[in-house]
Amino acid sequence: MNRVKLFSGEQIPLEMHKPKIVQKIRLVPPERRMQAMEEAGYNNFLLKNEDVFLDMLTDSGVNAMSDAQQAAMMMADDSYAGSQTFTRLERKCQEIFGTRHFLPAHQGRACEHLLAKVLVRPGMIVPTNYHFTTTKAHIVLSGGEVVEAYIPEALETTSTYPFKGNMDVEKLEALIEEHGAEQVAFVRMEAGTNLIGGQPFSLANLAQVRDLCTRYGLILVLDASLLADNLHFIKEREEECRGLTIREITRSIADLVDVIYFSARKLGCARGGGICTNREDLFVKLRELLPLYEGFLTYGGMSVREMEAIAVGLEETMDEDMISQGPQFIAYMVEELQKRCVPVVTPPGGLGCHLNAAEFVDHLPQEQYPAGALAAALYLVSGIRGMERGTMSEARDAEGNEVLADLELLRLAVPRRVYTLSHVKYAIDRITWLYQHRRLIGGLHFVDEPQTLRFFLGRLAPLSPWPEQLVGKFEEDLGC
Ligand code: F0G
Repeated sequence: MNRVKLFSGEQIPLEMHKPKIVQKIRLVPPERRMQAMEEAGYNNFLLKNEDVFLDMLTDSGVNAMSDAQQAAMMMADDSYAGSQTFTRLERKCQEIFGTRHFLPAHQGRACEHLLAKVLVRPGMIVPTNYHFTTTKAHIVLSGGEVVEAYIPEALETTSTYPFKGNMDVEKLEALIEEHGAEQVAFVRMEAGTNLIGGQPFSLANLAQVRDLCTRYGLILVLDASLLADNLHFIKEREEECRGLTIREITRSIADLVDVIYFSARKLGCARGGGICTNREDLFVKLRELLPLYEGFLTYGGMSVREMEAIAVGLEETMDEDMISQGPQFIAYMVEELQKRCVPVVTPPGGLGCHLNAAEFVDHLPQEQYPAGALAAALYLVSGIRGMERGTMSEARDAEGNEVLADLELLRLAVPRRVYTLSHVKYAIDRITWLYQHRRLIGGLHFVDEPQTLRFFLGRLAPLSPWPEQLVGKFEEDLGC
C-alpha cells in the first residue's frame, strides 16, 4: 500500500512509480486567466490547455501510461481485419473477465450507443445505481427512461458509509413490479459511481442485484469504466474480500453480470472501449451494428496502438499498487480540505476530489449553476481546471424547464500517475483561499445553450462583475 507515515507523524501517499517522460505546464498570470475564462464562455470545457496549470477536468484519456504500455504500442499489428493486436486484447479480456466475446468500440459512449440500440425500445426503463450523462443520453435517444435506484446514503455528501454506490435492492424490485419485467430493458450497475463522487458498490450488493435479475429474467449490465477504483475500495472496505486478490475480486464481479462495457480512457489507462459478454444472443446482435457505427470487428474505431496499450493497462489494473495510487491521493486531498473546513464529499471516492458546491457557495441558487460558478472561480484563482457536475450537466425537461441536479459538485479529477504531491498541496491551498472568500463568487447564466449535453459546448456569462472583484482580492492577498 502506498501510504506511509513520516517521522513527523504526517501520513502521505507515496508514488510507486517515477516519471520517465514529462510534459511542461504553465501557470499563466491572473489577468490572462480572466481573459481565457471570458473567451471560454465561463465553461471550463472550452478553455485551451495552454492556459491551464493543473488539468483536473477529467481522468478520461489523460492517465499516464507505463513504460510497458508504450513498449507494447510498438508491437501493434495494423491490419484492417483479424489483427494480432485484436487477438491479444481479446485474450486479455477473456483472461481477466472470463468472458468469451469481446467487441471493440472507440470509447465508452460508443458501447452505450450499441447497447441502447440493441436493448432499449420506446417506453422501457433502465434502473441504475446512478446514471451517467452519456449513458442516459443514449437510453433516452432510444426512447427509454433511466430510473435511479440509489440508496439514501448516496446523496448524503458527508457520510462514512463505505459503499454509497450500492443499488437499493428493494427499490429495484418495486420498480420491476411496477413496470413489469418485460418493460425493463436491462439493469445497469456503474462501478465507481461517477456523478455522486466516484463512490463504489460492494460485491455483496452486486450479488443481491444479480439474484433479483435472475429471478425476473433480466439482463445485468456493468459499466466498468471506473472499475479500478471500485476494486480498490472493495479490497479495502469489504471485510469478506480482504483476503482476495484484485484478480479474484475482478472475476467475482464479472461472473455476476451478463455484459461488461468500459471506457478504456479510464479503465486500462489508454483510449478506447469495449464490450465483453458470454451471452451469445447479445453478442450476435451487437456484432451486427459494429461495422456500421464503429469499424470492423477487430478494431472498432480504435487505433491498434491504443488497443495494445489497453491490453497491458488491463493487466496493470490487477496490481494493487497501481490502482490504489489515485484513491490514496484523493483521500489525502479530501482529508486535508476537511481539516480546513472546506465542504467535500466523504468518504473519499475514486476518480477525483469532489467539492460540495451546494454548501461552498450556498448563497447561489441552483438556477445560477453554483458548481459551474465555483469551477470558473477556482480556475481564476489557481489555473486549475475542474468539472461542473451539477445542474449545468443536466438537460432541460420536455417543457424547457431546468432539471435541478440532486447534487452540485465541482469534481477535481486526479488522473492516475500524473500529478505530484506538491501539485495536490497547491490545489489544497488555493481551494482554501477561495473558500475563505466564497462570498465573492457570483452566479452564471447561459448565453448560448445547446439542446444536447449542453455542458460540453454551452457558453455562459457572469450575472454581475464578480470575476473581476474576486481576482482583484486574490491579487491583493497573494500579490501574484
Ligand atoms: N461511463 C462512465 C462511468 C464514465 O465515467 C464515462 C466517461 C463513460 C461511461 C463514457 O465513456 O468518455 O469513453 O465515452 N466519463 C468521462 C468523465 C467523460 O470525464 O467522467 P467515454
